[in-house]
Amino acid sequence: MKTLLVTGGAGFIGSNFVRYWIHNHPEDRVVNLDALTYAGNLENLDGVDESPNYRFVHGDICDGEGVKRLFGKEGIDTVVHFAAESHVDRSITGPEAFIRTNVFGTFNLLEAARESWKGDSRKCRFLHVSTDEVYGTLGPDDPAFTEQTPFAPNSPYSASKAASDHLVRSYFHTYGLPVLTTNCSNNYGPYQFPEKLIPLVFINALEGKPLPIYGDGMQIRDWLHVEDHCRGIDAVLRGGRLSETYNIGGVNEWANIDIVKTICQRLDQLRPGDQPKAELITYVKDRPGHDRRYAIDAGKMNRELGWKPSFTFETGIEQTINWYLENQAWWERVRDGDYRSYYEKHYGR
Ligand code: NAD
Ligand code: TYD
Repeated sequence: MKTLLVTGGAGFIGSNFVRYWIHNHPEDRVVNLDALTYAGNLENLDGVDESPNYRFVHGDICDGEGVKRLFGKEGIDTVVHFAAESHVDRSITGPEAFIRTNVFGTFNLLEAARESWKGDSRKCRFLHVSTDEVYGTLGPDDPAFTEQTPFAPNSPYSASKAASDHLVRSYFHTYGLPVLTTNCSNNYGPYQFPEKLIPLVFINALEGKPLPIYGDGMQIRDWLHVEDHCRGIDAVLRGGRLSETYNIGGVNEWANIDIVKTICQRLDQLRPGDQPKAELITYVKDRPGHDRRYAIDAGKMNRELGWKPSFTFETGIEQTINWYLENQAWWERVRDGDYRSYYEKHYGR
């Protein structure tokens, strides 16, 4: 039996992970530490929050003493660290929060684990959840990112994640802390905050609002369903080699404009009487430092841990669209909070 500390478990991937873990490992305890920033939403955990082996703690990973106390009090032996500022556009307008949470917050967690596990850390694991964005950008014909690709981050978000990846690595080499790192491509699926491309476009299309496409819309991302990401983290926790990094990705490259057109087509089928949704596509000013292409080589995950994605993009996007259709009350409540003022500030009008 393990006691997991899941940081950022009220966010998009963290809440999917808590749900996945409680369902698949009912013998374990899960402590969810989340500061409930604009991206944290306890409604994401409806249902699982009643489980007797789940506990929510409202707290900030930047509070070093609080984090240390929690380790001692709960007997944490496994950390799955999701908590982060995660949106590239916000990192451009306000980078400080990214340095604070992603770098300093990760440092606090590493220190708490080091102190708490110093007697015997053989059964302990610190899994740091990171991103493919640390590797920078690819040209159209470049091979996909491997675990050997040098870091070349281009946004304050990816730079702060790269810094945290380096810190995690150093705690293995310097202190022998049992760390693992995953670098995953773009996730999609239920409970994604509607500032990210897929839910934003879906909701705007449904409501007949413009669908903002940065630049020429030909930037490429490698999309992975969030449940496949959760299964990948589970596989790394169980079988990953300490200090190693594992790239997790969908082998599923799509240009942004094609994703948006796919969502439009699906909604046109569902609402044949409406104005064709593609007419809402609006090209807007490009994101500064916008990475052109990401692609993950997930061969190591497959060879060493037998992991591969279970969703095709067709099944995954269908499931996701259906989820957003069936959970309108969820996204309306999210949107009616901080989302509106952020949206107006970012896109004007
Ligand atoms: P998210 O923004 O949806 O959720 C982040 C969560 O962290 C929120 O619940 C927020 O309240 C919490 N949080 C933020 N600052 C905190 C702090 N100081 N203390 C405690 N909690 C805090 O993010 P996400 O999309 O679920 O991403 C989770 C992790 O996965 C991040 O580390 C991100 O870098 C990584 N990642 C995300 C993607 C993706 O496509 N979304 C891809 C690869 C890796
Ligand atoms: P996003 O979901 O923000 O993820 P990331 O920046 O981490 O890849 O964006 C995915 C892609 O979609 C990225 O190339 C930026 C682009 N994009 C738009 O074209 N319009 C938008 O309104 C948003 C939010 C993103």
